[in-house]
Amino acid sequence: MILVTGGAGFIGANFVLDWLALHDEPIVNLDVLTYAGNLQNLSSVWNDPRHVFVKGSIADYDLVEELLRSHRPRAILNFAAESHVDRSIHGPEEFIQTNIVGTFRLLEATRGFLAAQDEAFRKSFRFLHVSTDEVYGSLAPVEAAFSEDRKYEPNSPYSASKAASDHLVRAYHHTYGLPVLTTNCSNNYGPHHFPEKLIPLVILNALSGKQIPIYGDGMQVRDWLFVKDHCSAIQRVLESGKVGETYNVGGKNELTNLSVVNTLCEILDELRPLPHGASYKAQISFVRDRPGHDRRYAIDAAKIERELDWRPSETFDTGIRKTVEWYLANDAWVENVTSGSYRQWIDRQYR
Ligand code: NAD
Ligand code: TYD
Repeated sequence: MILVTGGAGFIGANFVLDWLALHDEPIVNLDVLTYAGNLQNLSSVWNDPRHVFVKGSIADYDLVEELLRSHRPRAILNFAAESHVDRSIHGPEEFIQTNIVGTFRLLEATRGFLAAQDEAFRKSFRFLHVSTDEVYGSLAPVEAAFSEDRKYEPNSPYSASKAASDHLVRAYHHTYGLPVLTTNCSNNYGPHHFPEKLIPLVILNALSGKQIPIYGDGMQVRDWLFVKDHCSAIQRVLESGKVGETYNVGGKNELTNLSVVNTLCEILDELRPLPHGASYKAQISFVRDRPGHDRRYAIDAAKIERELDWRPSETFDTGIRKTVEWYLANDAWVENVTSGSYRQWIDRQYR
C-alpha cells in the first residue's frame, strides 16, 4: 500500500484515480480538505476497498505516525500543499504552516516510522515529494529552461515555501538517510482543476458571461503539462527514480497566457458557440498585474527522458481540448465547486 497526501486536490485526485485504474495496490489518502480539497473528485473510487480516505493534516504528527504504524505503506507521495500564488500573496501564513511545517512533520513521522523497520523495508521505502518549477524563479526570454541543477530563486511566498520544503526533504536524505525523491514540475492543467487557476477560471468565466481577467500584458510564459502526464511521470519516478535525486517534469508547451486564453476562447467558440457568431474573446479584459509576477517558466525535462524514459503523451492541442470537454461535460462538479454547496456538504459530513 502507498500513502498519498493531498489526494482530494487537483493533481492528487488525478493521481489516485489513475493509480487505481492501473494497479491493485491500495492507497491511504490523507487530506485535510481545505477549500481546494474536493471529495467529489474521488466519487468514482469512494466505495472501492482499495481506497482508504482519512481526513487529517500532514502537520498532525500523531495522526501520521498512527497511519504509518497501522498501514505500513511502502511509499509516501506528498502532494498536500497550499498551491495558489495569489492566495499566498494575500495571506502567506497558511503556506508556511502547510508547506513548510507540514512537510517537516511528515518527514519527522516518516523518520520515526522507518527507524523501527528492518533494513529490507527501509531500503525499498520511498518518500516522493511533489514540488514545482516555481522554486527556480523567473527566466529571461532567451534563457535556457530550468534543469535540476538550476539555482533556487523563489519569488512568491508560495514558491519560497515550496523551496523550503524541498530543502527539508533534501536534508532528511543527507542527514538521516531518508530514501527521498523530488519532482519539480511545470504548470498542470486538466480535469478537476479548481477554478481559481488560470485555465479553469477562463473556461468558467467565459461560459458564465463574466470577464476573462488577464494580469498585466498577458505575455508571461508558462510551460503547460497535462495532469495525466504529470501523474505518469510521478509513477515512473516512484518505480525507477534514483534515491536522493530530483527530476524536472515538463510538457514542452511554452505559451504566453494570452495565447492560452485565445486558444480556450476558440475551442469554446467551436464547442459552445455564442449567438450571432460572437466570440468569447470579447470578454477578455486586461487587469492589474500580480505583484512580483514571474515572467517565464520553462522546464528542461532531459533528465527524466534520458534516465527514466518518460515523455509526455499529450500535446497542448490535445490536452486542452480534453480539458474543455471535461468542464463542459461536468456541470454538476462545476456547480458544486462554485456555489459553495460543496463546502456545506463537507461541514455536514464531518461535523
Ligand atoms: P490543490 O491546491 O488543488 O490541492 C491541494 C490538496 O492538499 C487539497 O486537497 C488540500 O485539501 C490538501 N491539503 C492542504 N493542506 C493540507 C494538509 N495540511 N494536510 C493534508 N492535506 C492538505 O493543489 P494541486 O494543484 O493538486 O497541487 C498538488 C501539489 O503539486 C502541490 O504540492 C503543488 O505545490 C504541486 N504543484 C502543482 C502545480 C500545478 O500546476 N497545480 C504545479 C507544480 C507543482
Ligand atoms: P496560475 O494558474 O495562478 O498559476 P501560476 O501562478 O502558479 O503560474 O496562473 C498562471 C498564469 O496566468 C500566471 O502567469 C498568472 C496568470 N493569470 C492571469 O493572467 N489571470 C488570472 O485570472 C489568473 C488566475 C492567472
